[in-house]
Amino acid sequence: MVKIAPSILSANFSNLERDILTVEKAGADMLHIDVMDGHFVPNLTIGAPVVKNLRKVTSLVFDVHLMIDNPELYIKDFVEAGSDIITIHAEASKHLHRLIQTIKSFNVKAGLALNPATPLCVIEHLIEYLDMILIMTVNPGFGGQSFIENMYGKIISLKELLMKYGRQIPIQADGGITLDNIQKLHDCGVEIIVAGSAIFNSDDISKTILLMKSLNGVQI
Ligand code: DX5
Ligand code: ZN
Repeated sequence: MVKIAPSILSANFSNLERDILTVEKAGADMLHIDVMDGHFVPNLTIGAPVVKNLRKVTSLVFDVHLMIDNPELYIKDFVEAGSDIITIHAEASKHLHRLIQTIKSFNVKAGLALNPATPLCVIEHLIEYLDMILIMTVNPGFGGQSFIENMYGKIISLKELLMKYGRQIPIQADGGITLDNIQKLHDCGVEIIVAGSAIFNSDDISKTILLMKSLNGVQI
């Protein structure tokens, strides 16, 4: 079954607790928390203190997507804030293997994200250590962008690569995902769907999550 990870980037930041409880009640599988530093991406969002406070209002799995330079400086803060999965970008660190080991040493799951331009070969040597791989389907930095169509092929290739190594870790896709492309992404091998604007800008957040989990009338 596909898992839905609403991205709070498109939630109402003056009422995050309300929006988080809405998606939790609607059956969201995890909460996708986008951390941006204005350097790795041209936008700023929130840091560990906010995550720590959000931890008090929900028991949803915290899927923390770090779009920041020098992520090694902040892993401990995000662990202590209550992260369950920490995803770092392959483009953001010179020592990815070490960084992944650091995340895992805290008993937190380690995800690795790839920008659209970054080829899969960059992470081939890391596949055995990872708990999740995030394929960016837009260039990171903003919600509400258009899905990059040729990312389907990249996802299919990643699925094949994971099979080659006998790794059954989930593929997550993030960016420009709506009710119109979710089925195709799932067919290509995506198990965790991140969606921000498609959920929080919809007229009925709960209904949208339900539809995302029940395409074609069946739970996928
Ligand atoms: C983009 C973020 C996404 C973003 C997705 O850089 O990583 O998680 O919130 O937003 P939508 O679903 O609106 O493309
Ligand atoms: Zn994200």
